[in-house]
Amino acid sequence: MKIVTVIGARPQFIKSAALSKELKNQNIEEVLLHTGQHYDYNMSQVFFEELGIDNPKYNLNIGSDTHAKQTAKMMMGIEDVLIAEKPDCVVLFGDTNSTLAGAVTAAKLNIPIAHIEAGLRCFLRYVPEEQNRIVADHLSAYNFTPSENGVKWLAAEGITKNVYNFGDIMVDSLLHYTEVVKTKSLSYYIKRLVSLNKRSISEIDLENSWYFSTIHRQENTDDRKKIEQIFLALNKLDKPVILPLHPRTKHIICNTLIDQYTNIFFTEPLSYIDTLYFAKNACKIITDSGGLHKECYVMRVPSVVIAKNSCWAETFEGNCAILAEPDSNDILNKVNNVIPDASKWKTCYGDGTAAMKIVDILHNNCKVDLVI
Ligand code: UD1
Repeated sequence: MKIVTVIGARPQFIKSAALSKELKNQNIEEVLLHTGQHYDYNMSQVFFEELGIDNPKYNLNIGSDTHAKQTAKMMMGIEDVLIAEKPDCVVLFGDTNSTLAGAVTAAKLNIPIAHIEAGLRCFLRYVPEEQNRIVADHLSAYNFTPSENGVKWLAAEGITKNVYNFGDIMVDSLLHYTEVVKTKSLSYYIKRLVSLNKRSISEIDLENSWYFSTIHRQENTDDRKKIEQIFLALNKLDKPVILPLHPRTKHIICNTLIDQYTNIFFTEPLSYIDTLYFAKNACKIITDSGGLHKECYVMRVPSVVIAKNSCWAETFEGNCAILAEPDSNDILNKVNNVIPDASKWKTCYGDGTAAMKIVDILHNNCKVDLVI
């Protein structure tokens, strides 16, 4: 049995680390295909090195472009690989443009798709990730959801066959690497931060804890007023904010702006283990990332999510996570005044065994006739 796994963006590398390990355990051949959607060292290669992921057999080096052009170029490259490799199954993760390209291409070649992190909905059709996940779910032969809500939301769209809730594969990685994170001290992690501000970060700056923040969603970054409102709020918080800067956000704010926000430590993007350390030990997270606020929920760190909605609905019970507008007063009010109800944290995203259960299903079920 042979599987082609399509990856391309940061969170997919982390998910694929857990899957690849299990495929190896079960002696299943995996061909890794990197679309090249993320290409900077600290957006891509660092994860392969840190998490011990094999170098992809194929890297399409597609890079950045408009959504349609980027996806179209990926589809052309993926088609060549699938025709050459003739896999029994294509594995896709999440909801990025790489997921969309993999789904449409594999479906047109009649190759069964296994979609991991299926069934999520934020119920906002203008969100690019919502568009991608709807297409991927509907074209997939196997949908692996991270929680019961995923099963319910797929059923509401008529998808009930081969739907499995084995928990979130990201939790497999998270539980494993949380143990690794504990083996190093604050001073070790501080030395790994590459500051983008004029001043560097010291232990004294962080001795009374910190907030951790990431901001990269197009709906927040592409409107100058919104991004300024967000940084204005972070700048007024009572503890320093560590904010690894996604390249999209970095392109938008110039260096002079970075230095005007003296309470925010802007850094280069962080590796997975460094992110886990600074997120787990933060007093609160302020983010527009779906993945990060779900991980923080699993680590029981409260978060303020700057978005209209999120597909991780479970996190909002008891205000463990809370939504905010990209407005400085709203963000400050939510960060300073909303206290989560600790009794509401649940273990709803699995127990870290998703990869093993997913691979069992694929092993027992995947056979196909290619129409090429
Ligand atoms: C993508 C995913 C998003 C995911 C995120 C993880 C889509 C539609 N969105 O968003 O769901 O949460 O990855 O980070 O697929 N750039 C670089 N270097 C890089 C990568 C990106 O400079 O290595 C810059 C480029 O200017 C690019 C912009 O960042 O245009 C956005 O990158 P892109 O991959 O299109 O989307 P993300 O915002 O990263």
